[in-house]
Amino acid sequence: MKAMRIHAFGDAPCLDEVEAPRPAPGRTIVEMHAATVGHIDRTVWEGRFLHHPPMPYIPGVEAAGVVRSSGRFAIGERVWLRGCGLGIRSDGTWSELIGAPDEAIGRLPDAVSMALGSAFFSPCTSAWVALHEVARVQVGERVLVTGATGAVGSVTVQLALAMGLRVHAVVRDAAQAARLPVGADAVLAEHMATSDTDLAVDALIDTVGGALLPAMLRSVAPGGRAVLVGYTAGQAVSLDLPELLQRDVVLLPLNMLRREAAGRAAVPQLLERLSDGRLCLEVTRFPLHEAAAALAWITQRGHRGRAVLAPSA
Ligand SMILES: NC(=O)c1ccc[n+]([C@@H]2O[C@H](COP(=O)([O-])OP(=O)(O)OC[C@H]3O[C@@H](n4cnc5c(N)ncnc54)[C@H](OP(=O)(O)O)[C@@H]3O)[C@@H](O)[C@H]2O)c1
Repeated sequence: MKAMRIHAFGDAPCLDEVEAPRPAPGRTIVEMHAATVGHIDRTVWEGRFLHHPPMPYIPGVEAAGVVRSSGRFAIGERVWLRGCGLGIRSDGTWSELIGAPDEAIGRLPDAVSMALGSAFFSPCTSAWVALHEVARVQVGERVLVTGATGAVGSVTVQLALAMGLRVHAVVRDAAQAARLPVGADAVLAEHMATSDTDLAVDALIDTVGGALLPAMLRSVAPGGRAVLVGYTAGQAVSLDLPELLQRDVVLLPLNMLRREAAGRAAVPQLLERLSDGRLCLEVTRFPLHEAAAALAWITQRGHRGRAVLAPSA
C-alpha cells in the first residue's frame, strides 16, 4: 500500500510503498478516505514536539474512513480516528490503510462527510473544552475570541454564540468581519494592538499568542480568565508582570492531549451539531501525494478551515 512518510525532520514527505497493517487483537484496520493535515502534524514534522514516531514515520493524527478488519466494529462501518498516539508515538493516518487501536476509533454519522469526519476532532473538541472545562464560561458572560477566522477560533465563536454568550471576535480586516456568524461583534486586531480597548470581558480564548497576547489580556476584566490555546502569531510572549498582577487575570493553558478524554466525551453532541448544520467547519481537499502543499497551505494567512488528504487516484 502507499503512504506518505517523513524520513528526516522538515524534509518533504515522500510517497512510499510500505507494508500494509496486519489484523491483530484490539486493533482495527481502516481504509482511509480523508486524513487531516493540522498544526500538530507540522510541529511533529519540524521535530518540535515532545514525542515523534521512529523515523521514517507516517504522519497524521486524525482521519476518517471505512472499517476493513476489526473485532469491535462492523466491516464497512464509517468511522473517525484520533488519539492513542497516532502520528505522535506511532505511525499515523496519511496512508491508504490505517492500523489503529480500537480505542482511537469512533462511529461517524452518515450525515457527516468523510472530510469533515477527519477534520472535526481537534478544532471542535478544543473549542468545547476551552469554553466549558478550562474557562468554565457561564450564561450571561462575555468572551473575546482571537483568530476568530481560524478552525479553532471559528468553532469557539459558534459554540459561544449557541450558549447565548456575548462574543467579541478578533479578525484582521473588514472583509473577515463580514464573514463572521450573525451575532458576533467584530473587533479589528490592529485596533486591539494599538489602542486602549478595555472590553472587560469575562474570558479570553486566545488561539494566536505572540505579540498580540498582552494587548488581548488588557481586555479581560480583573479576575477574568484567559485560555491559551495556540501560537499562530508567535511562540514567545513578553508580559509586563506588574501590569498582569494588577489586572489579576488567570492564565490557563489548554493541553488537548492531556484533556483528550474530555474532548471524546463531547464528540456525540459535536457530531450531532455538525450533522444538522448548527456547527460548520470548512475543509479543503488535497491528494495524498500533495501532503507537502497541505503542510504549507495551513501556514498561509487567510486560509480557511482544515486541510484534508484524500487517497491519490
Ligand atoms: N492547545 C491545544 O491543545 C491546541 C489544540 C488545537 C489547536 N491548537 C493550536 O491553536 C492554534 C490555532 O489552530 P487553528 O487550527 O485554529 O489554526 P488556523 O485554522 O490556521 O487559524 C489560525 C488563525 O490565526 C490567525 N493568525 C495567523 N497568523 C496570525 C498573526 N500573525 N497575527 C494574528 N492572527 C494570526 C489567522 O488569521 P487570518 O485569517 O488572518 O490568517 C486565523 O484566524 C494553533 O497554534 C494550533 O496549534 C492548540
